[in-house]
Amino acid sequence: MRICVLPGDGIGPEVTTAALGVLAAASSRFAFGVELDERPFGGASIDATGDPFPDATREACLGADAVLLGAVGGPRWNAAPVRPEQWLLALRSALGCYANLRPARRYTRHTTSPLRDELVDGLDLVIVRELIGGIYFGDRELGDDSAYDTCTYSSLEIRRIVERACGIAERRSGRLTSVDKANVLATSKLWRRVATEVAARHPEVTLSHQLVDSMAMLLVDRPGAFDVIVTENLFGDVLSDLAAAVSGGIGLAPSASLADGGPGIFEPIHGSAPDIAGSGTANPAGAILSVALLLDELGQPAAARAIEAAVTGVLDDGARTPDLGGVATTDEVAAEIASALSASLSTAS
Ligand code: NAD
Ligand code: IPM
Ligand code: MN
Repeated sequence: MRICVLPGDGIGPEVTTAALGVLAAASSRFAFGVELDERPFGGASIDATGDPFPDATREACLGADAVLLGAVGGPRWNAAPVRPEQWLLALRSALGCYANLRPARRYTRHTTSPLRDELVDGLDLVIVRELIGGIYFGDRELGDDSAYDTCTYSSLEIRRIVERACGIAERRSGRLTSVDKANVLATSKLWRRVATEVAARHPEVTLSHQLVDSMAMLLVDRPGAFDVIVTENLFGDVLSDLAAAVSGGIGLAPSASLADGGPGIFEPIHGSAPDIAGSGTANPAGAILSVALLLDELGQPAAARAIEAAVTGVLDDGARTPDLGGVATTDEVAAEIASALSASLSTAS
């Protein structure tokens, strides 16, 4: 498999290096080949090349089987003519990655969740976020005294993401919650109508609707009541950070952004964490679990499950970074996960 690697900014390179160590361990244990192609992207690329998203990076991504990304952005580039975050949107759009899967699971008992154990024990839900439409991509203008952003959705954009979510729900419990703000927004009224039509063609799917404000409340109040959640771009951004915090901490949360054919983008949902960048203490689990999602997509599900098991084993009983109450470094956690992966599998085979 050919993987284009975009380490990016802040803790991006630190967690990406950690994730690549685990990928290497998985590739030797499961005997699949990996070809890496590392490219500049984001703020680091502005510094190195003057261009946040060089054509060569775009071509390398398009020609790969998958893209593994760290994180982009940071205060250093806040004054850039176009901030690095905007180029992340351009990358997602260039690859047609409209379906952003953000699982929120309780990967370890050392959760940082502020919720009581009985609310988060066994938590396992997935947010399916529309990723290349809505207010992120509409016309906007910033004036001195007024500004606007516009949110547009077509029925096609809604249909394809809800279809994806229905497919995921069918492989899980069948329960699908569509989140909108249909009591106010026109885009949400269309969203609700199309979601209802799409789900009606999936007899195994039970669809319910939830307004986004009450969804935020319910994700804190009874997160275990949800299985698959589908929503638009901005709501999905906000709710997925919330679900990550509820399930165990932002440093643990992975994501997969998928197109209809072509490479997907695999990245932790956290950002470049400027407050801890360079300290070597970022939790690499979100990036490592993103590698597991990548391997699922590229036909290596056994390796994916083994990585997840190794992450849980190490975080439960071995090294942990400070965000999970430990004292280990990023590299120490990654090394333990890599060796747990090799050890557990060699006894299993
Ligand atoms: P953030 O996710 O970077 O950090 C929020 C908090 O979580 C910080 O205290 C940070 O230290 C902590 N944190 C995040 N990841 C962690 C990890 N792996 N281990 C331990 N602690 C971790 O969010 P922010 O501070 O709002 O954003 C910082 C920059 O990152 C901004 O420029 C933002 O635009 C960008 N960003 C990028 C992405 C991305 O590349 N996909 C995602 C979110 C934010
Ligand atoms: C994320 C991030 C991005 C988003 C930013 C950096 C553009 O917050 O991946 O969740 O809002 O999609
Ligand atoms: Mn976000």
